Amino acid sequence: MPTPPVPPGALPAFPPGFLWGAAASAFQTEGAARTGGKGPSGWDDFADQGRIKDGADASRGTGFHDRYREDVALLAGLGADAFRFSVSWPRVVPGGSGPVNPAGLDFYERLVDELLGRGITPAPTLYHWDTPLPLDRAGGWLERDTAARFAEYASAVAERLADRVPMWITINEPAEVTLLGYAIGEHAPGHRLLFGALPAAHHQLLAHGLAVQALRAAGARNIGIACSHSPVRPAGDSEADRTAAAVYDTLVNWTFADPVLTGRYPDEELAALLPGPVAEDLSVIAAPLDWYGVNYYAPMAVGAPEPGPAADGAGGGTEGAGGAFGGITLPPDLPFALRETESEERTDFGWPVVPEGLYDLLTGLRDRYGRALPPLYITENGCSYGGLDDGRRIAYLDSHLRALHRAVTDGVDVRGYFTWSLTDNIEWVEGASQRFGLVHVDYATLERTPKASYAWYRDTIAAQHATR
Ligand code: NOJ
Repeated sequence: MPTPPVPPGALPAFPPGFLWGAAASAFQTEGAARTGGKGPSGWDDFADQGRIKDGADASRGTGFHDRYREDVALLAGLGADAFRFSVSWPRVVPGGSGPVNPAGLDFYERLVDELLGRGITPAPTLYHWDTPLPLDRAGGWLERDTAARFAEYASAVAERLADRVPMWITINEPAEVTLLGYAIGEHAPGHRLLFGALPAAHHQLLAHGLAVQALRAAGARNIGIACSHSPVRPAGDSEADRTAAAVYDTLVNWTFADPVLTGRYPDEELAALLPGPVAEDLSVIAAPLDWYGVNYYAPMAVGAPEPGPAADGAGGGTEGAGGAFGGITLPPDLPFALRETESEERTDFGWPVVPEGLYDLLTGLRDRYGRALPPLYITENGCSYGGLDDGRRIAYLDSHLRALHRAVTDGVDVRGYFTWSLTDNIEWVEGASQRFGLVHVDYATLERTPKASYAWYRDTIAAQHATR
């Protein structure tokens, strides 16, 4: 293994009991897409339609379903306190409603027991984007019924595992599901509804609230949600840019956090567009949480869309009128466009590296919510870089952990950090091309090889544990 260029133990000490972890998700790693009684997900279908860019065989994932012991051993080798993985809804309820697949629950029970046997806290996410295909075909999150089906599934998982799983996550990044899956159609289930996607936001929030009730009824404790947050700044000084940035900020940063943490939508006009008995639903959505999870990768510069056809390259440094951000292109008919954020360093995805963004967003959450903010966890943070000698990932992690430490020192109550990701995995439509892992995966053989960053994170965790 190459020698880490950044000395271990150089980070300041985090508070005692701070949880050091790594994260992953089912579709991105498990494989075994058609075995063990698993039903198809909307993402399996998307892959079958050839929507995964490099034609990677997403149905194999990283082979985690069959190799989970090897990956748990890698976590143990890291000295990790916790592992955030996701439970595949269609592995547990293959049809989306109706009978539970006992072999699916058996798999997660074996995984949980393997982790516990190694002294690692299992932290399952119940929804990391793989909706059972029959539900997606019936409208997915556009349908209120999907929230009720999700609560039934949550109950089935909790009834089997609540006695031994000490930390739960309901839903991962509902904002990205709404934007990418329902508004612009770049992710499964591929709808291009623009603002017509808003019911998918509300129904995921309702699903979250109903799942919290179902989990608690089954005896689960320590429940949170994982939301993506990006500090947003206007791309320029114009009024149009400021307005566009504010709209984007409301939709992506606050449309999910506000209802969950305060029981209100951030904007009356937006709330008026939502289906159902919204006020009643909000009381379910705002069920008290034990903690709130933040996924942070990079800040966003947002401006007004350029007039003109999307393909003409107008807008300097953007792809099309709606602009582009690391593989995502927004259509020009949205009232905002993504612009380049200035940064000397960029990941292989083209994402800017801005550790201060993490500090800003954490102190911003504290200032916005005050006492309504429960303890925080960083449920994802990481970067895409190829190669085994990944000093740039080490620099990314080191700088973001320093920014996180500054936020903790300034009074933000953060209890733990999960880096994305333990191993390379299928980066959704980008397939195998974007590598976020501490451990390299050879997709031909599924062989795992720890990178330099693995050794660095191992030594960092050991140094932090030694300060307790
Ligand atoms: C957030 C998502 O939760 C995860 O699945 C994805 O791989 C990372 N972002 C990196 O894009």
